[in-house]
Amino acid sequence: MARAKPKTKRDGPRGDDAIALLKADHRQVEEWFEQFEKARNDDRKVELAEKICNALTVHATIEEEIFYPAFLEATDDKELHHEAAVEHEGAKKLIAEIEASGPEDEYYDAKVKVLSEMIKHHVKEEEKPGGMFAEARDSDMDLMEIGRQLAERKEVLEATGGMPPPDARKERASRMGSR
Ligand SMILES: [Fe+2]
Ligand SMILES: [Fe+2]
Repeated sequence: MARAKPKTKRDGPRGDDAIALLKADHRQVEEWFEQFEKARNDDRKVELAEKICNALTVHATIEEEIFYPAFLEATDDKELHHEAAVEHEGAKKLIAEIEASGPEDEYYDAKVKVLSEMIKHHVKEEEKPGGMFAEARDSDMDLMEIGRQLAERKEVLEATGGMPPPDARKERASRMGSR
């Protein structure tokens, strides 16, 4: 098997390159979507949907702020870049709808299911041969440096609203309810 560049495999996303970090995010969210499908009680569904929406929001933000512009600059592949950006916009609308509703909404499960399908498609586009990540690997993007920037930004976003601790969730829910 001829491989142009050796794969870098390490323990976790921290210290890994940009693509390893973004792929680790994808795997995490896929796992939560699977758990949502199996979940039978409403509290668990809300907990998982919140984790999914927060993680996807942080993920989309770091891609849009850091990875996508670096990709566009390095490859000038507007087609791949723009399609990915438009898919993000679609997902964000559905994320906002899910965040504004709850299991009492007859369409709640359907919304989460459709979001999972949108994300599955988008992740495939990013990860497939000839997709954005493969093209980024073949470019002269400094993936280690971009990975550091992604990790740093992710940490800040998570601390300021991406991932509230369990008891902050109730507060947030009641704030949202009073809007
Ligand atoms: Fe992604
Ligand atoms: Fe993306």
